[in-house]
Amino acid sequence: MAVRAKAMGRAVARAPRDTAHEGFLGHRRGRWLKVSAALSLTAILAYALIDQTPRPNGGTALGYALGTLGAGLIVWLSLIGLRKRIITTGPYSLKGWTSAHVWLGLSLIVIATLHSGFQLGLNVHGLAYVLMMFVILSGLWGIYVYARLPALLSANRNEMTQPQMLAAIAALDRQLDTAAQPLGRDEADLVRMSIEGCDIGGSLWARLTGRYPGCGNSRAEAAVAALVDGQRRTGTADPRLVQILFLLERKGAALAQARRHVALKTRLELWLYVHVPATFALLAALVAHILSVFLYW
Ligand code: HEM
Repeated sequence: MAVRAKAMGRAVARAPRDTAHEGFLGHRRGRWLKVSAALSLTAILAYALIDQTPRPNGGTALGYALGTLGAGLIVWLSLIGLRKRIITTGPYSLKGWTSAHVWLGLSLIVIATLHSGFQLGLNVHGLAYVLMMFVILSGLWGIYVYARLPALLSANRNEMTQPQMLAAIAALDRQLDTAAQPLGRDEADLVRMSIEGCDIGGSLWARLTGRYPGCGNSRAEAAVAALVDGQRRTGTADPRLVQILFLLERKGAALAQARRHVALKTRLELWLYVHVPATFALLAALVAHILSVFLYW
């Protein structure tokens, strides 16, 4: 079987667990939502109540306080990658950590905006701000994905595991192989096209869209369907070919299910390929921002 089981395995192995994120937003009755709201509100009040003209920006006492808080938060938020790889339960469980990550991450919108005093330009400071917003937006994309895709995944799986899906396709290939034995060369070649020319996985684009334009099974199915149609019109349908068509159709459905599975798993991990590199870019811009502030004081 030419199914790219390895690629499928990779797509699945790297994907986050389906249920690991259930309820993390409201963890411990929204503890981190409250902390984040309190933090944001304090920053807004401090900014609004300070009697200073011109308004505070990064270079004032409040600006330094908010900047230190924001930079500390960014560094701490970045550490979740390490934290994810150490699994524990209890008050500092990964679920609690993720909840804090999301809500404190969102509070950065307020903290960093007030730190800048709404004075953003086309420079390294503006770049750090834009990258931070980009990381936060990609985080929101992650929340959307975790909220929506696990249900779609389990609906598509229909109680089947991924190895079972692959095993079903392999079993259909064996049946096709057996059924093709008594056929002539041309017809047997069509069956071989299905057995040897099917991919699951492959390029990122193929995995995401589930589209495989040259799929051997689709081509074989279309060719055998045309043959059987022609035979039926003349009342000479070959039952062996009808059986092959039936198997090809079943394989088509099994392939579609497995490819949808891979597409959903790929979507479940794709946002992290934006969130994590953008975090590294943000950390670099943050260092440049801080250095330039102190070097050109
Ligand atoms: C500047 C702010 C942020 C930084 C620097 C940051 C950084 C990171 C990093 C480094 C990871 C670890 C990825 C991995 O190794 O697999 C991560 C995971 C994650 N981030 Fe963020 N993030 C930020 C803000 C946000 C925001 C605002 C949200 C949501 C609105 C968010 C949602 C998530 C989620 C859901 C995960 C995955 C957690 C898991 O799989 O358990 N992040 N983030």
